[in-house]
Amino acid sequence: MQTVLEKLKIKKASSHDWSEILDLMKETGRTVFFAGSESYEKFYLVRDPDTNKILCSFAIESEDEIAVLKFFGVRKSLQKNGVGKYVANKTCELMKKNGIKRFYASTWEAPEFWRKTLFKEIKISEIKDKYFLNYLKQLEKSFPYEYSNLLVNFCFSA
Ligand SMILES: CC(C)(COP(=O)(O)OP(=O)(O)OC[C@H]1O[C@@H](n2cnc3c(N)ncnc32)[C@H](O)[C@@H]1OP(=O)(O)O)[C@@H](O)C(=O)NCCC(=O)NCCS
Repeated sequence: MQTVLEKLKIKKASSHDWSEILDLMKETGRTVFFAGSESYEKFYLVRDPDTNKILCSFAIESEDEIAVLKFFGVRKSLQKNGVGKYVANKTCELMKKNGIKRFYASTWEAPEFWRKTLFKEIKISEIKDKYFLNYLKQLEKSFPYEYSNLLVNFCFSA
């Protein structure tokens, strides 16, 4: 599996990819978290080298040296094969290369998955980056129950 995973490449999405990305976002239940202004510009994708179909996609929003990973989803038929972990870790490398100092992700659905990656759990009281704190405020407004009871935050520090 490792050699297969190494063939996977993260690419920036183009406008032509958008309908296929949306299809994956719907399949993985990510559109529930859309604010309404999402478009291909913030999205990245990974294609299956054999079929050329998108097998993983996500968005990254950033300001200065801080970035937030959103809407991370792996095609259902390919889940539990190491794809998510491989891509999440590669994304950390990519952010480091791009000069991002702290790269955040929030979840209440799959904290165990994020614990297996290069991201480390972080308490809200330890977060100083206003850009991410503002994102958390939006989450709290839209999902008050999940925010108060289930949310786990992660950070990759470059
Ligand atoms: C969560 C998700 C991205 C994981 O991707 P994946 O390719 O299936 O994960 P991997 O196979 O790389 O798993 C890596 C590790 O995390 C564990 N893991 C994966 N998904 C998990 C989950 N939902 N809960 C607990 N552990 C999980 C795996 O068992 C594996 O452990 P191991 O390294 O000890 O073998 C994928 O299942 C998905 O797209 N789910 C629907 C959307 C979603 O929940 N996105 C994340 C929201 S924050």
